Amino acid sequence: MTRITVTVDGQRYSDEVEPRTLLVHYLREQAGKTGTVVGCDTSNCGACTVHLDGRSVKSCNVLAVQADGHEVTTIEGLADGEQLHPVQQAFHECHALQCGYCTPGMIMQSVDLLNDNPDPSEEEIRAGLEGNLCRCTGYHNIVKAVQQAAKAGKEVPA
Ligand code: FES
Ligand code: FES
Repeated sequence: MTRITVTVDGQRYSDEVEPRTLLVHYLREQAGKTGTVVGCDTSNCGACTVHLDGRSVKSCNVLAVQADGHEVTTIEGLADGEQLHPVQQAFHECHALQCGYCTPGMIMQSVDLLNDNPDPSEEEIRAGLEGNLCRCTGYHNIVKAVQQAAKAGKEVPA
């Protein structure tokens, strides 16, 4: 076992993990962050997407020991108290989900996409989300939600 210290959603955790423990399993089983889900375990679906030092990663593709000394943000750390993050709000308003299983990862990836490119075209949104699979929505409302969040971002004074 190896001891790691990770900041998850602003809180510091210090835990023993096996060297082979995946970050997604650490988050769910040891840090209690069950909002991050596993869809495939083979880095195909994107359901497990979180931010590692502010950049999106598929947490089934990262070892927990690789997060030692780093900061992780999950879907549970995105809202500011009761105030949803603009991307969460847009997913809600655009009805950008059905079963919701892909949604945590889809939102984390969308936030990263908008951080990189605050005014993306529809093609850029679709390309930015190509690593995140949704079996339900046909993606149309997800793209609309990202466009709405981008518009909301432009209207927020800097
Ligand atoms: S569970 Fe990580 S990409 Fe599917
Ligand atoms: S809403 Fe069901 S997988 Fe995307």
